[in-house]
Amino acid sequence: MTNRKKILVLPGDGIGPEVMYETRRIMNWMEENGAVSFEIEEGLVGGASIDEHNVPLTDAVLDQALSSDAILFGAVGGPKWASVEFDKRPEIGILKLRQSLDLFANLRPAIVFSALAHASSLKPDLVTGLNLMIVRELTGGVYFGEPRGIETLPNGDRRAVNTQTYTTPEIVRVARIAFELARKRNGRVCSVEKANVMESGVLWREEVETLQNSEYPDVELTHMYADNAAMQLVRTPKQFDVIVTDNLFGDILSDCASMLTGSLGMLPSASLGAVDSYGSRRALYEPIHGSAPDIAGTGAANPLAMILSFAMMLRYSFDLGNTADLVESSVSNVLNAGLRTDDIMQEGKSRVTTSEMGDAVLDFLDQKNR
Ligand code: IPM
Ligand code: MG
Repeated sequence: MTNRKKILVLPGDGIGPEVMYETRRIMNWMEENGAVSFEIEEGLVGGASIDEHNVPLTDAVLDQALSSDAILFGAVGGPKWASVEFDKRPEIGILKLRQSLDLFANLRPAIVFSALAHASSLKPDLVTGLNLMIVRELTGGVYFGEPRGIETLPNGDRRAVNTQTYTTPEIVRVARIAFELARKRNGRVCSVEKANVMESGVLWREEVETLQNSEYPDVELTHMYADNAAMQLVRTPKQFDVIVTDNLFGDILSDCASMLTGSLGMLPSASLGAVDSYGSRRALYEPIHGSAPDIAGTGAANPLAMILSFAMMLRYSFDLGNTADLVESSVSNVLNAGLRTDDIMQEGKSRVTTSEMGDAVLDFLDQKNR
């Protein structure tokens, strides 16, 4: 097949290594069956890196990240590192990767697998068939804006500052990704901000509008305030096709959207950089769920979001859409067969462990391959 893909695997903390282990088995299957060939390196990130090197991301791992074709990331954080200095927290590991690799576009699909429509916190008819895509700006806004910090005022009071900033190019490049995706989907983009109270929202709205007018007149564009968007997401989520929004609103709305699907443990994400002159782009793939330290080591973790993140890698980094479809349909089949990890357990279904879920996905891959 094609040349070998250089993958950096960063399992991280908590359930990260467990769900990554199952994903590595799927990757091995792909290799054995000649679908694709990987050159895999593995590194430490987050708390695991703090324990070993005293920092959440070493320069060596960052260098590996910069020279890989794609990164598979598990999850970071946990109570063990709750008291480390703010700028050395495990979360800094992922933030530094996003920023250093300039992964400005975060694709967070919220898809309801039909077998799980009943696991949603909303009524099944509101979510059955739901398939929306949140495009979250990932390297700007209040996450990275300066000035920032906590200072002590002359009178002894303390004052904390964070800065929300966006430039035209930062808005335009992420909006373009949203419009391009909408063209391949249902042709609709909803741009979300708080233009009623924030200048950064006013600029966001104007720039998205200008881009649509000049380059994407075929895509339908609407605007929504972030508070209303949160409300609409739990009221009639199927009204949305693609949502494009800033870093902080995207963080919040994507957690909200993920719950509509029945489980946070089901949702993958892709973080993409710009396409370079060779036609390739930096990319990192991670499940939306966190490190879930409370269930780490118990075999209760759901590996499907990590496995689906790998499918996104196949699709977005390597243009292997058919192979990605194969992984995704195996996941659907496993759910249709009634297998459930703890987080998506329902009456009458079979409770399985993390590795049994991995086994089941592999079995379906084998069956399909016959
Ligand atoms: C996410 C997470 C991160 C974020 C944390 C871990 C820094 O919540 O990826 O959504 O806020 O971006
Ligand atoms: Mg989040």
